[in-house]
Amino acid sequence: MVGRWTGRGSRGASPSRRGRARILRTQHQSSVRARTLSHSSNSTSSASAILRIVADRSEGERLAADEIESLLKAKPDAALGLATGGTMTGLYDELSRRHAAGRVSFARAKGFNLDEYLGLAPADPRSFAAYMRASLLERVDFAPGAARLPRGDAPDAGAESKGWEEAIAAAGGIDLQLLGIGRNGHIGFNEPGSARDSRTRVVELDDTTRADAAAGFGSLELVPRQAITAGVATILDSRRILLLAFGRSKASIVRRMLRGPVGPECPASWLQGIGHALVVVDREAAAEL
Ligand code: GLP
Repeated sequence: MVGRWTGRGSRGASPSRRGRARILRTQHQSSVRARTLSHSSNSTSSASAILRIVADRSEGERLAADEIESLLKAKPDAALGLATGGTMTGLYDELSRRHAAGRVSFARAKGFNLDEYLGLAPADPRSFAAYMRASLLERVDFAPGAARLPRGDAPDAGAESKGWEEAIAAAGGIDLQLLGIGRNGHIGFNEPGSARDSRTRVVELDDTTRADAAAGFGSLELVPRQAITAGVATILDSRRILLLAFGRSKASIVRRMLRGPVGPECPASWLQGIGHALVVVDREAAAEL
């Protein structure tokens, strides 16, 4: 059915199934503006991300919360791929409200965050672990230890990365991966240059990424230079992907993600070929489409 994201899709759709994003409007903007599917010669089916343009971020947050609520009702022990950043705070507020109202429970769910700054212990207030505790984990009912992040202070970051992939596999894979997008097109901390087949690993952070994080650290110099991130392949293997982008500052990277060439220069562009990906943007972030 046109305009409805079912969330069904094959795990790890190959890049050969790449396509342009289908653009779908929300109900009050009900026309389908464009729907372009690519057909590669060696594939019997085609896949492309679906784009939903919503009126404002609160509508996008409700839509994302609806997806998570339905997933947890259908599969209470789902594995959620969680993300940080300003983009996610309203969604986590909405999920916390729904939990308080008895609509959604995370009691049997598992959480795997995308990334963490290298060198920061979970107790560090600047860590993504601290962000997650304050934004979601202390407000809902995950079982102790069931929602995890890569350890930024792991003594062996390589072993931590390998163990992260194994933990996701042991959980049966990620059912729903939340994503934001960096101004340079990163997903997680997969900076420009990240390969389609990359896995969880230590990465060097881009200058733009560090500049965007500087306010939270007090100064650019204090922003870590490295992070542990789930890889592009780790992310794309998820059964469903939900990328959120809100605000005018994301408009040009949203255009590059959905309309630019697919490749490592803009890691988010790999989503173009992922039929089980839903990209939710508000009108401001859609301004250059
Ligand atoms: C960080 C995170 C990303 C996130 C990005 C965008 O770099 N590692 O996962 O998508 O920030 O952040 P924001 O939502 O604040 O724009």
